[in-house]
Amino acid sequence: MSEQLPNLDLSLFEDAQAAPRPGDHKPRILLLYGSTRERSFSRLLVEEAARLLEHFGAETRTFDPSGLPLPDDVPVEHPKVQELRDLVLWSEGQVWCSPERHGAMSAVFKAQIDWIPLALGAIRPTQGKTLAVMQVCGGSQSFNVVNQLRVLGRWMRMFTIPNQSSVPKAYMEFDETGRMKPSPYYDRVVDVMEELVKFTILLRDRQAFLVDRYSERKETAEQLMSRVNQRSI
Ligand SMILES: Cc1cc2nc3c(=O)[nH]c(=O)nc-3n(C[C@H](O)[C@H](O)[C@H](O)COP(=O)(O)O)c2cc1C
Repeated sequence: MSEQLPNLDLSLFEDAQAAPRPGDHKPRILLLYGSTRERSFSRLLVEEAARLLEHFGAETRTFDPSGLPLPDDVPVEHPKVQELRDLVLWSEGQVWCSPERHGAMSAVFKAQIDWIPLALGAIRPTQGKTLAVMQVCGGSQSFNVVNQLRVLGRWMRMFTIPNQSSVPKAYMEFDETGRMKPSPYYDRVVDVMEELVKFTILLRDRQAFLVDRYSERKETAEQLMSRVNQRSI
């Protein structure tokens, strides 16, 4: 299906500082989904999203949550936790796609976010990265989960893009090979991925400037002053 899609026109960025320079790496996008079911529609939706992102020039990685222990139930050295954290550090943007369960995001999805600390030493693994949110429903269309994911994105200090995707009756939208059928829901996923690539290119080299906060500069200056004062006593 993606062969028929037009390429993403990036000419708008040509003269801007945000233009991807020759030799620059492709935008790195991590995709997370929220189910361990064998035929999981949140996984199939993320696979469709990854195809589109690659079509638009991004490099993608998808984390398989199967085998990830419950948050804090094992030491952080657990290989699945390390795999997840390494992928988060690698990424410049992310796609989060959770099924709706009892009107909320799945525990499988939330467990992944709960394993990502706001700060890993001096590094903030998610701060300043772009984010696209998606959900699949078994019933009629709902925005409960995407709304929750937006709150979670804010908590992780990410830039959540305006567009989003919610696929109702997800079991109707995929064929037996796991590909998404043509529909307005598919077109929306194209729109969301196109927008995510644009925002990631615009923001990725400006993270340090964009996330710089007055209150944190003030706190650092105060800590420095108190250390200097202690030394001079
Ligand atoms: C325990 C449970 C609760 C669910 N609650 C909802 C719900 O509140 N709203 C909804 O639209 N679908 C609900 N569903 C349906 C799932 O969203 C649907 O089966 C979805 O495809 C599951 O995601 P997956 O295919 O990635 O595993 C629920 C399913 C289960 C098993």
